[in-house]
Amino acid sequence: MNILILGSGGREHALAWAVMQNPKCDRLIVAPGNAGIAMIAECAALDIEDGGSVVTFAEENSIDFVIVGPEAPLAAGVADRLRDAGLLVFGPSAEAARLEASKSFTKEICAAANAPTAAYGHFTDAEAAKAYVREQGAPIVVKADGLAAGKGVIIAETVAEAEAAIDDMFGGAFGGAGAEVVIEEFMQGEEASFFVLCDGTDVLPIGTAQDHKRVGEGDTGPNTGGMGAYSPAPVMSDAVIAKAMNEIIKPTMAEMANRGTPFQGILFAGLMIENGQPRLVEYNVRFGDPECQVLMMRLGGQAFDLLHACAEGRLAEARVNWADDYALTVVLAAKGYPGSYEKGTVITGLDGLPEDSFHMLFHAGTSEKDGQITATGGRVLNATARGATLQEARDKAYSMVDQVNWPDGFCRRDIGWRAL
Ligand code: AMP
Ligand code: GLY
Repeated sequence: MNILILGSGGREHALAWAVMQNPKCDRLIVAPGNAGIAMIAECAALDIEDGGSVVTFAEENSIDFVIVGPEAPLAAGVADRLRDAGLLVFGPSAEAARLEASKSFTKEICAAANAPTAAYGHFTDAEAAKAYVREQGAPIVVKADGLAAGKGVIIAETVAEAEAAIDDMFGGAFGGAGAEVVIEEFMQGEEASFFVLCDGTDVLPIGTAQDHKRVGEGDTGPNTGGMGAYSPAPVMSDAVIAKAMNEIIKPTMAEMANRGTPFQGILFAGLMIENGQPRLVEYNVRFGDPECQVLMMRLGGQAFDLLHACAEGRLAEARVNWADDYALTVVLAAKGYPGSYEKGTVITGLDGLPEDSFHMLFHAGTSEKDGQITATGGRVLNATARGATLQEARDKAYSMVDQVNWPDGFCRRDIGWRAL
């Protein structure tokens, strides 16, 4: 098969790496890709949020199957355009992608599906939002309704902080994403990520993970897109998984289907678990980044068969071949991230790194010129490894990190600490 993956991050490098291991893959193109992806697949420049361009490109290259990595093209309806053109695609419609693109939509679906989540209010003006905050008290969580690249959530410790966040959001700090605001009860507990394939009718769990969102060791400092992750998440016991499936995932998928907007793709549920009871924090309609890297490291080439079965509506017959192993990824980021950072700094030491089914250095934000690799983003490399224990996976990942020579980069040295 000829396969096209849309995206350019560590998530897409991991997807490409898994797909390439499957003998059904004859040709793989990643658009736009990055320097690491270019070492294993063809890369092509393409505006991946422009559905028309993606359809034309797929037709010109005789693509049999398109896998959409990030949320922006999904929210922009790229999967719809591809399906309208008769192409097979992994990823939800724009309507179903609202599970990520609108927090108030997700809350409404949870209410209809009776899925446990934080109590909330939804507001279109600042005064009503502030009155609600004063009534509820702090701590309380203030969220921009729309897509805000993971930055539109403020955990307010005081009522004054919540009021300031409300003013910021309605004042345009998050652009259109903050025109509506959701205010939520602060949930206590331990967070974990749960990944489930959904084909519109059937659901298949494919793994759990935990990430480290804060930039600093000990989970301190500002939030980032994720500084590292590991899989599986110990807090996701079989009992918690069964509750999450029966109380949250299946009712949500049934509600989406009942509304005539069935969800097809990967549903990434952010859960808060307290005393064995999971509650939904949020949905994402794509793989997590860097959670995808650890999931792909554990699934390997079968990931392609699972995604393909999902897109073809054959999940009822699909099975995951679970290995009793652990994977861990460490993100190397540019100094200054998540604030401002320098671009174009040089990375060396990559040549001698092991690359096999137990080790992979995924590239997240790199480019290559005259044989030299440079950093082009905030999160730049993901040292990812698998082992019989989490400690083994972690030791392998950090030994890869230690071989990379990048004076302008940094990483956290404590990824996985909670589980260890
Ligand atoms: P979100 O973008 O919705 O994932 O929120 C970002 C992070 O904020 C989550 O991963 C949680 O750590 C935290 N968070 C969001 N909503 C809540 C909540 N209602 N209670 C506690 N923490 C939350
Ligand atoms: N690592 C969190 C996310 O991809 O949303």
